Amino acid sequence: MSEIKNIRDQFISKLENDLSIDQINEIKTELFGKNGLISSKFKTIGSIPDTDRKKFASDLNQAKDELQNLITSKINELEGKKINEKLEKEKVDITLPERPFVRGKVHPVSQTIDEISSIFSEIGFSVEEGPDVENEYYNFTALNTPDNHPARDMHDTFYLDENKEFLLRTHTSPVQIRTMLKDKPPFKIIAPGRTYRSDSDQTHSPMFHQVEGLHIDTNINMGHLKGCLNYFIKEFFEVEKIKMRFRPSHFPFTEPSAEVDIGYEIKDGKIIIGEGDKWLEILGCGMVHPNVLKNVKVDPSKYQGYAFGIGIDRLAMLKYGINDLRAFFDCDYRWLNHFGFDPLDVPSNYRGLSR
Ligand code: PHE
Repeated sequence: MSEIKNIRDQFISKLENDLSIDQINEIKTELFGKNGLISSKFKTIGSIPDTDRKKFASDLNQAKDELQNLITSKINELEGKKINEKLEKEKVDITLPERPFVRGKVHPVSQTIDEISSIFSEIGFSVEEGPDVENEYYNFTALNTPDNHPARDMHDTFYLDENKEFLLRTHTSPVQIRTMLKDKPPFKIIAPGRTYRSDSDQTHSPMFHQVEGLHIDTNINMGHLKGCLNYFIKEFFEVEKIKMRFRPSHFPFTEPSAEVDIGYEIKDGKIIIGEGDKWLEILGCGMVHPNVLKNVKVDPSKYQGYAFGIGIDRLAMLKYGINDLRAFFDCDYRWLNHFGFDPLDVPSNYRGLSR
C-alpha cells in the first residue's frame, strides 16, 4: 500500500516541474502504458490477500484518478498556452497603413485574343491550343509540306536540334493536325497562340501571334469561308461596312489559297477601316488540301472545309492605333499603362468589345 503512495507522491512532484507536452506524455506512458507502474499494479489485485484487497484496490483507483486528472489538466494548460502564443504571433496590426495599390493592365494582345475568341464563339467555334515547341511532322510534313519544299525555307524556322526534328512552330496550323487527329469530324475550331520566325523589324517580331481557324464538315465551300471572315472583320473592328479583297496565293496545305486584305484610309492621323483605297494584308486562308485530310484520316471525298491564319498583332495594332510592333514585347510598364485594358472589363459581344 505504501508503495502506491510512493508512486503517487513521486509522480505528483515530478508533474509539478516545468514539463513539455512530450515529457508529460512520456510520464503518462510510464504510469499507464501496457507495462506502466499503475497498470501493472492493477494486474496484481488478484494476488492480494482477501483482507487487504479492498483497500488496495480503492487506494490504487484513487491514485490512478488523481494522477490521470493531473496529467490531463497539465496537457490542456500547455495546449491552451501554445494556441495563445500562436494567435499572438499571427496578430494583424490593423492600424498599419495600407500597401500602395498597383493596378495591373491587360496587354493589348491578350485583349485582342479574348475579343477574337468571343467573336468566333458566337458562331460556334471552340478554342483549341497546341504547344509552342513542335516537331517537324506537325509543323510541315502533315501539312502537305514535305522535305525540301520551298515553303519550309520561307518560314525562317528556329530549329531546336541538329536533325531539324524539333522547332518553334512557325504558324498555328499544326493545331489543325492535332485537333483532327484526336477527334472525329465535323471540326469547327480556332487556335490562338504564339508563333516564331527568325525575322525582326518594325512590322516583324521573332515571336508573334496568330489565330488559326478550321471548319470541316460535309458541305463546306469557299462561300462559307468568305462569309465567316466578313463577319469576323466587321465584328472585330466594330464597323457596319468593310472592304475585303481576296488575292490568289499559295499555301501547301490549302487549295485554292488566298490572302486577304482589308481596305482602309488614314484621316487626320487615324486609321479608318472600310473606307479609302489602301489595302493591308491580314490573313492567309483557303480550302483545306485533300492531302492534309488524308494525313489525319479524314475522308476527303466526304468531308471538306476551310482554314485561315490571322496575324493577331497586326489586328491589335490597327484597332488600337499602335504603330510599332516591337513595343508589344518591350515590357515597358508605362506603355502598358497607356495601351493596356482594365482587367475587370472582360470582352463580350453583348457589351461591345472595346468599350
Ligand atoms: N499558316 C499560314 C501562315 O502562317 C496561314 C494559313 C493558315 C493559310 C491556314 C491558309 C490556311 O502563313
